[in-house]
Amino acid sequence: MRDRPSTLPIVFDSVAFAVGETRILRDVTLTIEAGPPTVLIGPNGSGKTTLIKLAMGLLTPTAGTIRGGQSDRATRRQAIVFQRPVMLRRSAGSNIAYALKAAGRAADSATIMKLLDRVGLAPLAGRPARRLSGGEQQRLALARALARDPEVLFLDEPTASLDPAATKAVEDIVAGAAAGGVKIVMSTHDLGQARRLANDIAFLAKGRLIEYAPAERFFAAPSSPEGRSFVAGELVI
Ligand SMILES: Nc1ncnc2c1ncn2[C@@H]1O[C@H](COP(=O)(O)OP(=O)(O)OP(=O)(O)O)[C@@H](O)[C@H]1O
Ligand SMILES: [Mg+2]
Repeated sequence: MRDRPSTLPIVFDSVAFAVGETRILRDVTLTIEAGPPTVLIGPNGSGKTTLIKLAMGLLTPTAGTIRGGQSDRATRRQAIVFQRPVMLRRSAGSNIAYALKAAGRAADSATIMKLLDRVGLAPLAGRPARRLSGGEQQRLALARALARDPEVLFLDEPTASLDPAATKAVEDIVAGAAAGGVKIVMSTHDLGQARRLANDIAFLAKGRLIEYAPAERFFAAPSSPEGRSFVAGELVI
């Protein structure tokens, strides 16, 4: 499937995003490359979700440019998982079938079961999706996203409302997808999770990209005062 136009790299050049007088992101320059996960961290309101939406093409910069590989908007192979998934009022399996069809892929039962198995939900294929627990629904959301066969999978705080066991299950699926070649771009408030999953860290504060560094280097020695306080668990206002 690698003959389709690539979404990557996604190149932000001096990108700003404002709504009226409110400047939400300013002067963001970064390149999201193929490879292991990129994780966005930063305080509430620092612009992580906005950056993800811009990278996906759901928002348009008010200044600067974003180039996304060779693919145009219609052929981008990307998917997103949010903090709280919204499931169709159907079985878990039917939710996957719907996602496969929407992506123009065959929704045969073998493919559906393979995707459900990938997230440990094969035994619950016939269960109404909205009756699943929060953790199970999030795993179903991941299977639904993977049904698109994405080149890039964006995750916006995917484990924010999950307990440690459900969080671990989601992290394992994300790590598995990354190992299978899916580019992960994820925001999180969980620094442990960022350490576990990230290859590189984009640290945002007050709408600016303060640091963009290999995860190991960032966590060992953030180069900005904001980064140091954030890693130390202090409030960055
Ligand atoms: N459409 C909009 N109109 C006005 N303000 C907005 C809009 N979208 C986002 N904002 C503001 O921009 C800032 C950044 O929002 P964003 O959701 O990107 O932050 P975030 O880093 O994802 O925060 P959180 O950690 O709470 O999810 C916030 O102060 C938010 O209120
Ligand atoms: Mg957010």
